[in-house]
Amino acid sequence: MDRSHDDFLRDAAARFGTPVYLYDLTRITAQVTELREAFPTARIHYAVKANASGAVLRHIASLGLGAEALTIGELERSLRAGFPAANILLGGPGITPELAQRALMAGVGVVSLDGEGAYDAFKQVMGRPGAPTVSAPPRFLVRLNPGFDPHTHEHLATAAPTSKFGVPMQEAERLAERVAADGGLAGFHVHAGSMLRDAEVASMVVRSLEPLYERFQGLELVDVGGGFAVPGAPLEAFAAEYAAFAQRFGVTPIVEPGRVVVAEAGVLLTRVLHVKGSAPRHVIADAGMADLLRPALYGAEHPVRVVGAKAEQKGVTTDHGAEHPVRVVGATADQPAVTTDVDGPLCENADRLAQGVQLGEVAAGDLLSVGQAGAYGFAMASNYASSLRAAEAVWDGEELRLARRRETPEDLWRLET
Ligand code: LLP
Repeated sequence: MDRSHDDFLRDAAARFGTPVYLYDLTRITAQVTELREAFPTARIHYAVKANASGAVLRHIASLGLGAEALTIGELERSLRAGFPAANILLGGPGITPELAQRALMAGVGVVSLDGEGAYDAFKQVMGRPGAPTVSAPPRFLVRLNPGFDPHTHEHLATAAPTSKFGVPMQEAERLAERVAADGGLAGFHVHAGSMLRDAEVASMVVRSLEPLYERFQGLELVDVGGGFAVPGAPLEAFAAEYAAFAQRFGVTPIVEPGRVVVAEAGVLLTRVLHVKGSAPRHVIADAGMADLLRPALYGAEHPVRVVGAKAEQKGVTTDHGAEHPVRVVGATADQPAVTTDVDGPLCENADRLAQGVQLGEVAAGDLLSVGQAGAYGFAMASNYASSLRAAEAVWDGEELRLARRRETPEDLWRLET
């Protein structure tokens, strides 16, 4: 990070206050280009859950990606952001007749059925007297629970045999037969998990799908999910497995990445309120688990740096190699790095942004930049402890503008009756 970049961050904090999320749309464009190069034959559906901010969604829609939506909220936001309905894939374990009806009316292109109940919801709406006349009913995928260990955090391991996602092989076959009899079966879906680093998982995904593609003929699509880790997923290795499978069965691959599209495009800026203690030193910031839940929920490690501190100063080392190149910042021969917890302002131990990181000199009033925060950052923010959700701003390469204002106390009770 050069000096001018830090000036930019300081200006943003001065203009919008802290905590604030900043998203770099040009970085999102670059990620999309990289994905398209890695998956040239695939349909790419952005997983809206990673970051559903209007400005971000509109940008991604303008780049021509599809959307992957889960809830009525995600479906409406995707439509509003300009994703063509035909380019929206609806999935998830909670499909109701109401959601099915809205999807049919809008003309959603593809639906991934998480089980029999989801198909019942569609059938119920499609069969109703006065049902909407749908010119192009959705094409259906059946989501398989492949029942393997995808080598990731247990909260994110959707392929696990104990996870609620999809249905096991025999049930998948039964459901697929039913959908095929109605003429709606387009293929199958596996989303093995999130934060996938090991390309071996891609070969486990395609191996699990193989018997289904051998048995059912004339399929059009294979949805191999998303889940690419940031940092460090070998996209090309995943892509090679998926492309080979799709080619073998003559189907179009779908990928549904969320994190890899937006994570590196976002930082959370937070101000240091107080510094106290030693072993560890506690740096109390104005953002915590209500703003960025990932460290508390998954033990996630987001790189934290003191804005203005120079990583290249004498005496600086990095303890996590290439994955966390700025984890140790601001230390010098005179000011060695100190083991630090970067904590939030709320009243529980889990309220922290980073644990046991090595930081140099930090003082109240300093600005901290928390990296890889563009995915599942604001998206998982809450009003816990009546926290006011942070502002969001976007940089489009020319201009930095407010995308969503910081909440005010009035926003906390606005919906109460
Ligand atoms: N497709 C399906 C069906 C999914 O359930 C998900 C994520 C994705 C695609 C996108 O996965 P991605 O490419 O973003 O890894 N809150 C967690 C992540 C939960 C992911 C849930 N499903 C986190 O902060 O790490």
